[in-house]
Amino acid sequence: MIIAVDGPTASGKGTIAKALADRFGLPMLDTGLLYRAVGYQTQLNHGDADKADDALAACSFPDSLLDDPALRYETTGGLASRVSIHPAVRAALFQRQVDFAGQPGGAVLDGRDIGTVIAPHADAKLFVTATAAERAHRRHAEMRARGVDVTYEAVLADIHARDARDTGRAEAPLLRADDAMLLDTTAMDREAAIAAAIAFVEGKVRRPS
Ligand code: DC
Repeated sequence: MIIAVDGPTASGKGTIAKALADRFGLPMLDTGLLYRAVGYQTQLNHGDADKADDALAACSFPDSLLDDPALRYETTGGLASRVSIHPAVRAALFQRQVDFAGQPGGAVLDGRDIGTVIAPHADAKLFVTATAAERAHRRHAEMRARGVDVTYEAVLADIHARDARDTGRAEAPLLRADDAMLLDTTAMDREAAIAAAIAFVEGKVRRPS
C-alpha cells in the first residue's frame, strides 16, 4: 500500500505520516529532508540557492548529510523551499522518491507533490492543512520550547513566505490532488488528527476506489 501525505509547512503532515507508517507497518520517507539536504549542501558549497546550477550541483549530497541535525533548522527549510523551485533539482530527486514508493509492500511518503507527481496512483492520499495563524502558533510554541528566541510575527511571516513559494512555483506546486482527503487540523489536537487519518486509510483498505 502506498500512502501519500502532502501539505504546507508546519501542518503536522510529518506527524501524521509517521503515525500512519507505524500503524500500517510501512517504511516512511520525509521527502522534505531531500530538499533540505540540497539546500544545505548548496550553502556548504558557498552556492546560491536561487541559482539552478548551484542547486543542481548540490543534489549529489552524501547520504550521511540526511542525518545532520542542521537539516531541521528553520533557515534550512527556507533554503529547501528556494532550491525546490528549480525543475532540474526536482528531476534529480524524482527517481529516488519513485523508487522508495515502489518498494515491495509499499511506503508512506510525505511532502508537497506526492499525491500529484511522485505517486499519483497511491492507494490513499491525504492533504493535511491548517490556517497559517494556527501553524505559526504551533511552530512558534515548538521553537520557544527548544529555546529559540523568535517572535510569533516572525514565524508567521516565514510561513506566509514559504506558502507563497511552495504554492506559486511553476513546477509541481503544492496542490491537493483531486482524490486526496482534506484533513484540516486547525481545530484538532494531535490525537484527533491521527485518528482521522488512520480511519481514512482503513476505509481505503476496506473499500479501495
Ligand atoms: O516539508 P519540509 O518543510 O521539510 O520541506 C521543505 C521544503 O522543501 C518545502 O518548503 C518545499 C520543498 N519540498 C518540495 O518542494 N517537495 C516536496 N515533496 C517536499 C518538500
